[in-house]
Amino acid sequence: MFPAEVYIQRRKRLRELVGKGVILFLGNKEVAMNYAANNYPFRQDSSFLYYFGLDMPGLAGMIDCEIGGETLYGSDPTLEDIIWVGKQESLHEKALKAGISLVKPLERLDGDVFRVIAHNRKVHYLPPYREQRRLQLAYYDNLKYEEVDKNASEELIRAVVDQRSEKDSHELKEMEETMTQVTREAYAAAMKRIMPGSYEYQVAGTLEGVALEKHCRMAYPIICTVNGQILHNHYYGNELKKGQLLLIDAGAESNMRYATDITRTYPVGGKFNHQQKEIYSVVLNAQQEAIKAIKPGKPYMEIHQLAAKTIATGLKELGLMKGDIDDAVAHGAHALFFPHGLGHMLGLDVHDMEDVGENYIGYDEEFKRSEQFGTAYLRMARRLKENFVLTVEPGIYFIDALIEKWHSEGRYRDFIDYRNISKYKGFGGIRIEDNVVVTAKGSRVLGKPIAKDITELEQLLKA
Ligand code: GLY
Ligand code: MN
Ligand code: MN
Repeated sequence: MFPAEVYIQRRKRLRELVGKGVILFLGNKEVAMNYAANNYPFRQDSSFLYYFGLDMPGLAGMIDCEIGGETLYGSDPTLEDIIWVGKQESLHEKALKAGISLVKPLERLDGDVFRVIAHNRKVHYLPPYREQRRLQLAYYDNLKYEEVDKNASEELIRAVVDQRSEKDSHELKEMEETMTQVTREAYAAAMKRIMPGSYEYQVAGTLEGVALEKHCRMAYPIICTVNGQILHNHYYGNELKKGQLLLIDAGAESNMRYATDITRTYPVGGKFNHQQKEIYSVVLNAQQEAIKAIKPGKPYMEIHQLAAKTIATGLKELGLMKGDIDDAVAHGAHALFFPHGLGHMLGLDVHDMEDVGENYIGYDEEFKRSEQFGTAYLRMARRLKENFVLTVEPGIYFIDALIEKWHSEGRYRDFIDYRNISKYKGFGGIRIEDNVVVTAKGSRVLGKPIAKDITELEQLLKA
């Protein structure tokens, strides 16, 4: 945990931002995997972690904006708990670590919430993403289950997004160290397993093993696939064959639950062929140009468009696109090859704060979400501020079903040279992803560099 003062200050600021009523943060509970005593690995709610820092199940926190009172709800370990899961801190000790002096048994929470409501005071809560929590909130608010999400507090959502978007020095250090000491090491170890005859699951296992060895785990399910064109492919059963590309999207989650999110694409057998080299260079150039353009005040939508234009320009040189590049990107023709957004916020969640609603994170009065295929998937569009942490992850993919559909419809015929695409059949996909913090004058890639230049990769894969 960070020092108690960090959590005290965060809650103080939150009370000021929300202003009125009572804020309720429900920590996560254990979730049964196949029977009640066999749970999924416990993951605390990220906003609960942000304001209370306590990473264990069965807690709730209440903050009174007007009176200023703060209560931690939970249970002291019983003798049975101690027998089965060992000695634990008392609730009071836990609370002190978060800078809270008032603790109450969890059974008192319902009554306290109903008392607040009876006094016609608002109970602010964030939109739930687990069914059990949705039911609990429906019970408090006397709402139908389906109505809970829309009764979530917009004031609280905005305040949380405001605070959690700008990372403080403690958070940046945590993310930076995790990147260098864990994710970077995991990639170094994984590269040694990439060779013809290995299986995707062996490379994925190596990545996961390094995280575990460093007392961390992964921030999200690893993507490790020779079919990089399938964007969220979690199948690991393929054997690696010489000449294929292996796309790995993986990032460790720190002990304090901060995420990293890295993608690299490697040639199996250690050498890119000519075609792979050409496409890889276009993606890398787009990523580097985007990183260079990041600075406070710049809308991320502009950086996304810059990456899309860099990709379209590169593809035009290779004979896959044609016509005026600005027009092509304005119409969305590049999305045949680059169908997703350039990146997203990163923090306690890999898609940071996405549980409160994507549009609150990446969009505002100035930037509304596009409805155009491709650009519509952009999670982050608004103007950047110092200490935002973002991913920069352009990619080029050859997705047969999409190519066939657009070709048959003659879509964007003026911008896409369909005749040449057939030469890329079975190519797969290339994505390169790094994590960047916005600095006073520009940006900085988090952590020590993870190899991505062609010559460097070929050198390392050969070793
Ligand atoms: N790893 C998830 C993403 O890149 O968005
Ligand atoms: Mn990723
Ligand atoms: Mn990402």
